[in-house]
Amino acid sequence: EKGGYDSFMEKEINEQPKAVEDTLLGRTDAQGRLTLDELRISPEQLKETSKIIVLACGTAAYAGTVAKYAIEHWTRIPVEVELAHEFRYRDPIIDQTTLVVSISQSGETMDTLMAVRYAKEQGARTLSICNTNGSTIPRESDAVLYLHAGPEIAVASTKAFLAMITASYLLGLYLAQLRGQLFSGQISDILADLHKIPAKIQTILDGAEPIKALARDMAQTPSVLFLGRHVGFPVAMEGALKLKELAYIHAEGFAAGELKHGPIALIEEGQPVFVVVPSPRGRDSLHSKVVSNIQEVRARGAKTITVAEQGDAAVTEYSENVFFVPETQPLLMPLLTTVPLQIFACALATEKGYDVDQPRNLAKSVTVE
Ligand code: F6R
Repeated sequence: EKGGYDSFMEKEINEQPKAVEDTLLGRTDAQGRLTLDELRISPEQLKETSKIIVLACGTAAYAGTVAKYAIEHWTRIPVEVELAHEFRYRDPIIDQTTLVVSISQSGETMDTLMAVRYAKEQGARTLSICNTNGSTIPRESDAVLYLHAGPEIAVASTKAFLAMITASYLLGLYLAQLRGQLFSGQISDILADLHKIPAKIQTILDGAEPIKALARDMAQTPSVLFLGRHVGFPVAMEGALKLKELAYIHAEGFAAGELKHGPIALIEEGQPVFVVVPSPRGRDSLHSKVVSNIQEVRARGAKTITVAEQGDAAVTEYSENVFFVPETQPLLMPLLTTVPLQIFACALATEKGYDVDQPRNLAKSVTVE
């Protein structure tokens, strides 16, 4: 049932090309226009959306942060992302034109469910991005976008994360299409690039051995830091979470720009720092600022490990190890840059002899608040 892999986690990491492909499958009609699954909100109602609030926990919330960058960029609708368990305790401002998007693999996370219920009571329209057909959150939501990623057995989320990000892109493009915010040619270009992602993930999986070798070498490391910027920021957070939950190593993710506001004080000789580097073809100065961050931590003794776009020559000189990922649009990069971090955490935990499918103290679905 593990399909020849040692763990479900490894199997699910390797299923990611298919998970992304299946999330994309059958989302366009004969005219090439995007369609969504179970939309019990009318297109007119969706068009009126004045604000989106994304609610989720853990890994799903990091997918939500990626969603924010993409949806705001494509639709110009303001997007807030909030941990579901914080949401209703702050008296949030919600009305009928607020679209609350919950993201949940299981569809049973109690914190997320309670936040969705609260939002509904306040009059918001609710849309669920979910992997589990017929689970509670999608049943209670006005609309559903299913991931179709197949069951995720390992406690730590991997393929569902990439599928959530993919589904969020589809939602953003759908809203942009409804509101006439992007030309149909722009939407089909982005969709075409999305359809190329599964093969690119496969390239990363096929070249995973050096990442696993580094993980084995680093099994005794007591702490690892992760830096990212723009969509690389939630990827850094996700890389840190995977390492905490699987390998029980102290790991922290930071927005690279925060470094000089405090975290750089943590850097001492030999401190491993992963840096998720933005595309050199993206927004001007973003890439060079992150390269400066790599230099800054390295100058203070950090062991720098970078995840960068293929051909990014600027990072090599400042990196102890570089893992390249294939090129794609800057906003789509998390679908690629996440993968080396998942492989790293899984391999390191395995090297330490831990059960990667059942990490201590954790449950697959958190059904208490
Ligand atoms: C991390 C992880 C958790 C879940 C979180 C939300 O690997 O699995 O952080 O992402 O508990 O779960 P769902 O997506 O089922 O709502």
